[in-house]
Amino acid sequence: MKIAIPKERRVGETRVAASPDTIKKLVGMGFDVCVEQGAGAMASIPDEQFKDAGATLAQDFASTVAHAKIVLKVQSPLLKGEGELDEVSLLPQETILIGMLSPYNNRDQLNQYVKTKITSFSLELVPRITRAQSMDVLSSQTNLAGYRAVIEAAQVFNRAFPMMMTAAGTITPARVLILGAGVAGLQAIATAKRLGAVVSAFDVRAAAKEQVESLGATFIFVEASESGEGTGGYAKEMSEDYKKRQSAKIKEEIAKNDIVITTALIPGKQAPILITEDMVEAMKPGSVIVDMAIEAGGNCSLAEVGKIKEKYGVKIIGYPQLATHVPRDSSALYARNILNFLSLLYDKENKTLTLEFEDEILKASVLTHAGKIVHPQFQS
Ligand code: NAI
Repeated sequence: MKIAIPKERRVGETRVAASPDTIKKLVGMGFDVCVEQGAGAMASIPDEQFKDAGATLAQDFASTVAHAKIVLKVQSPLLKGEGELDEVSLLPQETILIGMLSPYNNRDQLNQYVKTKITSFSLELVPRITRAQSMDVLSSQTNLAGYRAVIEAAQVFNRAFPMMMTAAGTITPARVLILGAGVAGLQAIATAKRLGAVVSAFDVRAAAKEQVESLGATFIFVEASESGEGTGGYAKEMSEDYKKRQSAKIKEEIAKNDIVITTALIPGKQAPILITEDMVEAMKPGSVIVDMAIEAGGNCSLAEVGKIKEKYGVKIIGYPQLATHVPRDSSALYARNILNFLSLLYDKENKTLTLEFEDEILKASVLTHAGKIVHPQFQS
């Protein structure tokens, strides 16, 4: 049974869906693994490492995926007009496609998968239940992104992070404010703390307070008559009254900080605007904002996708997908997530594929199967 790992061709994508470690395991499970030449180049994984792990190498996308029973991707394959190649049209009929397929933004893709009876699984839709933790791509990638956000900020910040007492004088520590203390925010707190910054953080979910404090950061509190907890541990959209009070508090705090990292997201909605132009103006010149919510519209009204903008002496970083800035580690973790997901589809004893859609993980993540859109959210 052939598994194909093509090179990622979307702009800015540096990751690959398998690592030498996962290829060894897939080969051990009895799969024939075929990797497209150069697939790991951006993640510093040379072709030889894939070969040594037991994969065969193919020259191009078409020969990599030919006759593949399963195709593993990071992002969705390119559709006609989206890039140098119409990858979707080259996928074999009835193949199983697994990746972060971004179905909310890629409705056209689903119709194409239907035409060629592709069974597609979108890993972002894997439910965040205990059994699925090892398959949780949102956590593995966002955690690294949170780390990288601090590094990006440090790179353009014109001061040092830690306090330094030297013969030439004392340098005060950088002050870092994190807005949104979920997976990304907590890792950003930990990273900024490791670099020696004084860190504070804010979240609408009361549960975040304990986690923020356990990392040694100060939790910023906004008086609320409502809970910020939505379903599944996520945040919900807050009332106008709360937003006003939150905004006043952020304005007060932001001016005291040198670096602000924003990660606030509400599932299925535009990211809330937490930093307005007047707040940016109130910051000290030389301050830095990293807007990690940029793909969902951004938390800072001045942030722009893919750019570092400078306004009022403040640098505003709007890089999407920060996990792609640490491709070796993000690929390794992603590859592990995908391997663990695959184990749900594979009967080890009989060495056959089993698509048990009653399994809640498969049920939540399958988009198309047998020529139909099967995920209820994408049927209309
Ligand atoms: P997310 O990426 O959807 O949002 C990031 C953060 O922004 C969240 O903490 C959210 O509360 C916060 N936020 C939203 N609106 C805000 C606002 N107006 N102001 C300030 N902050 C705002 O969420 P993420 O990071 O993916 O995870 C959220 C929750 O899910 C956490 O409780 C986390 O512990 C939990 N989780 C559970 C997992 C599991 O059980 N397997 C795995 C990963 C996360």
